[in-house]
Amino acid sequence: MEKEFKVTPWDVSGNVDYEKLIKEFGVEKISDKLLERIKKHTKDLHFMLKRKVVFSHRDMNWLLDEYEKKNKFFLYTGRAPSGPIHLGHLLPWIFCKWLQDKFDVEMWFQFPDEEKFLFKEDLTLEETEKWTKENMLDIIALGFKPEKTKFIVDTKNADLMYKEACKIAKKITFSTVKATFGFENDSNIGEIFYTSMQAVPAILPSVLKKKNIPCLIPLGIDQDPHFRVARDVYPKLGYYKPAILHSIFLPSLKGDAKMSTSDENSVIFTTDKPEDVKNKINKYAFSGGQPTLEEHKKKGGNPDIDVCYQYLKMLFEEDDKKLEKIYHDYKSGKMTTGEIKNYTIEKINAFLKEHQKRREEARKKIEKFLF
Ligand code: TYM
Repeated sequence: MEKEFKVTPWDVSGNVDYEKLIKEFGVEKISDKLLERIKKHTKDLHFMLKRKVVFSHRDMNWLLDEYEKKNKFFLYTGRAPSGPIHLGHLLPWIFCKWLQDKFDVEMWFQFPDEEKFLFKEDLTLEETEKWTKENMLDIIALGFKPEKTKFIVDTKNADLMYKEACKIAKKITFSTVKATFGFENDSNIGEIFYTSMQAVPAILPSVLKKKNIPCLIPLGIDQDPHFRVARDVYPKLGYYKPAILHSIFLPSLKGDAKMSTSDENSVIFTTDKPEDVKNKINKYAFSGGQPTLEEHKKKGGNPDIDVCYQYLKMLFEEDDKKLEKIYHDYKSGKMTTGEIKNYTIEKINAFLKEHQKRREEARKKIEKFLF
């Protein structure tokens, strides 16, 4: 029997059926025709698009219509600071960086530093302040252009945001957010208001420049419900509905649908040392291999459920040919579990070595990104 799954902005559990989610959320699968249309402008396609890691969208054809009429869009995404950054978080952001380079557009990055304070019992606002700064380093390290990237922090930029949030909040009823997010009578009123804060950056450049500017929001699909609610409101205030690109989740080491900080042994942080990565992968990474080497050589492994293979496919092996070879060698039993694990450890550590260097350099650059 199929296991029930759940996808909300605060909780992802079970075996996520993305086909079903597309229907439930009312979004559209990215078609080959749309990929061709994107490629016309970007010349090549990011491997996340080719491999359907970025798999569904809202209103991308409209966004490209506007772009072709010289009505350029800006990018918007975000991070709710509450702890260290893990590899899963990087997935939509690496894709954003590619979009910024290809379309040469502005990127607005929100840090809703009140969000996890409101939704988690054990987090103070003072702690989120530290995480805001730490998380910014990871985003800067990915290489966003300082002159085209703006960080907005909800509590620091409240003067910019609060008025617009109120206008949005006035048009969303409690029954709508209750039905969307499952709030109960004991949910605090900050939680109930929160969607209106996340909705603001999608129109903020339009408000500030006093003209309508299209917006594209790349995100993990867990964040879509906020915008599903807000998209009904924007036109009522005279703004465009933003377009959205959704990515699937990077699984946890143990093979759960979404890597998440809630299980320390199931997550790789961007600040992990090479030996941490090695130990975690060797000890915890769920394997699609057979119980014994002999059996593996005979029957072969299953790359589709192998966590290391998923990490290579979704983030760390850009070369399509190499990835295909790994798929076939692992499936046929020619490549062992030890070998795929070692290769993945090498790939992750090579990435993290560079990332951690840039992350330290980023400490001097934060000011350039603040709104
Ligand atoms: P947050 O801080 O939980 O996560 C930041 C971004 O990372 C994505 N993500 C993942 N993607 C792939 N695999 C994973 N295992 C994984 N874990 C997290 C999330 O989908 C998200 O895109 N409320 C938001 C912050 C926010 C935001 C936004 C996000 C504010 N404005 C606009 C997207 C767009 C949050 O708590 O994300």
